[in-house]
Amino acid sequence: MSKVQSPKSASETASSIREGQDLQEKTDRGKSTGAGPWTLDVGLFEVTDLRKTFSSPAGEKIDVLRGLSFSARGGEAIAIMGASGAGKSTLLHVLGGLEAADHGSITLDKFEVDRAQPHKLARFRSKHVGFVFQFHHLLADFTAEENVAMPLLIRRTAHAEALKHARQALEDVGLGDRSAHPVGHLSGGEQQRVATCRALITRPSLVLADEPTGNLDSSFAEELAELLVSYSRRHQAIVIVATHSQRMAQFCDRIMILSEGRLSPA
Ligand SMILES: Nc1ncnc2c1ncn2[C@@H]1O[C@H](COP(=O)(O)OP(=O)(O)OP(=O)(O)O)[C@@H](O)[C@H]1O
Ligand SMILES: [Mg+2]
Repeated sequence: MSKVQSPKSASETASSIREGQDLQEKTDRGKSTGAGPWTLDVGLFEVTDLRKTFSSPAGEKIDVLRGLSFSARGGEAIAIMGASGAGKSTLLHVLGGLEAADHGSITLDKFEVDRAQPHKLARFRSKHVGFVFQFHHLLADFTAEENVAMPLLIRRTAHAEALKHARQALEDVGLGDRSAHPVGHLSGGEQQRVATCRALITRPSLVLADEPTGNLDSSFAEELAELLVSYSRRHQAIVIVATHSQRMAQFCDRIMILSEGRLSPA
């Protein structure tokens, strides 16, 4: 196995990710879609009275979110902690519009996530939300660079340009020599870094990360935390991280505890 390069600083990584976005903005401008309703200048994310209940196969009700409210501003990184089963993953899915709440409102600036029509919600997610999942959802047969480039390709960035930016982002997190490997051949920690590069390559306004340090040793966990927090600062993005790691949470601006379906400051 060849040696993995040492990661560059988070700011260098954020810089190459920013370049990826600059490229995308140019592409968008070329198509006259750079301005208008899809250009967000993230100021305020407001979440009010969210409720979500699941039913067990036996028909029992599981009240996961029970009137949860909070707000966040662009440039803030927030850690959400809480016991296993408290509802952290459910909350992130609802915030990103992957799953509907039963009640409540979610507004990112003027965009009403909870009320958007499906096609507008899908477009909002693809342009403005970056997900880093507990289970990566990477495409195992595709290479690391193809996985990272995927969001740019979906947005019709030229293939060679998208791959170039993906390679740079991977190099910046110490995976330059793994770019052309199928992700199925990478370690869990390496895959998690690929998934993070993929989530940030389009410079989303809202980053939702579910246990991003789950598979990483503590030094890489800190690198990843630093990368996410630095990203939120540089791009005035809102980063929300669900984590069991106190070390990761300490990097964030605020820690909130999810318990009994509601959030409260740590
Ligand atoms: N689709 C579903 N149907 C029924 N119950 C569900 C569903 N999704 C989640 N749950 C239940 O909702 C509760 C919250 O689950 P969730 O995955 O959000 O917890 P979590 O805080 O992310 O836990 P962990 O720290 O283990 O990842 C759990 O009791 C889970 O079993
Ligand atoms: Mg979870």
